[in-house]
Amino acid sequence: MSFELDVITLFPGMFDALAQYGITGKANRNNIFQLSTWNPRDFTSDNYRTIDDSPYGGGPGMVMLPQPLDEAICAAKKKQAGLGINRAQVIYLTPQGKRLDQELATRLSKLPGLILLCGRYEGIDERLIKNQVNMEISIGDYVISGGELAAMVLIDTIVRLLPGTLGDPQSANQDSFSCHLLDFPHFTRPEVYKGDNVPKVLMSGNHAEIKRWRLQQALGRTWLRRPDLLAAKIASGMTKEEEKLLEEFKQSNKQN
Ligand code: ADE
Repeated sequence: MSFELDVITLFPGMFDALAQYGITGKANRNNIFQLSTWNPRDFTSDNYRTIDDSPYGGGPGMVMLPQPLDEAICAAKKKQAGLGINRAQVIYLTPQGKRLDQELATRLSKLPGLILLCGRYEGIDERLIKNQVNMEISIGDYVISGGELAAMVLIDTIVRLLPGTLGDPQSANQDSFSCHLLDFPHFTRPEVYKGDNVPKVLMSGNHAEIKRWRLQQALGRTWLRRPDLLAAKIASGMTKEEEKLLEEFKQSNKQN
């Protein structure tokens, strides 16, 4: 069964990029996920198709009206219910939300589908969030102009994890963060590029050695670049082999 995505957005066209290009495009053509958009403007009842108004209490910008969003969400829920998905989770993309990481994406990828709510302007009436939203997610500590790009980031992250998306299921496991580690460095032809050689071990054909080297690089990079991730890795438990590889990396780093 395909993963059912319903997106509430004032800019449905933005999602064409996701549904057409690259890995997500291919997954979409292979029916690994289904993406439908719902424009809140289609759920307005006035001639101007109004979707926002000024904030109570004053201040700059506009706030999205609850009613068109409410009806758009209800329509998406009804559609999902018709496909056997009851109690569809509604996620609102906002800088106030829980920070997206690989673990959260993995958890969400196991659901049958999601309804994603994209805000614009200063935000959405809080009562709509209280009544209709199950979870708020942020893609990082910065502000972008609306929830659409954030929703696309979330969708891409989830779709990569759905069975059948990546040709080699190993790819997702090898990605950065899949076990609290950054990815190891990659090399391809030519063997020497601008005087720089591909590490010898990768040319050796010794698969056990290559695996060891890659794990060591992943540990070392995480130590150098993301001590916060390494702390999580240590807390989740390192094998004796991993401890030894990291120690070796630290020693050789000191010498350089
Ligand atoms: N909307 C605006 N900024 C955002 C962010 N950082 N994450 C999710 N949604 C957003």
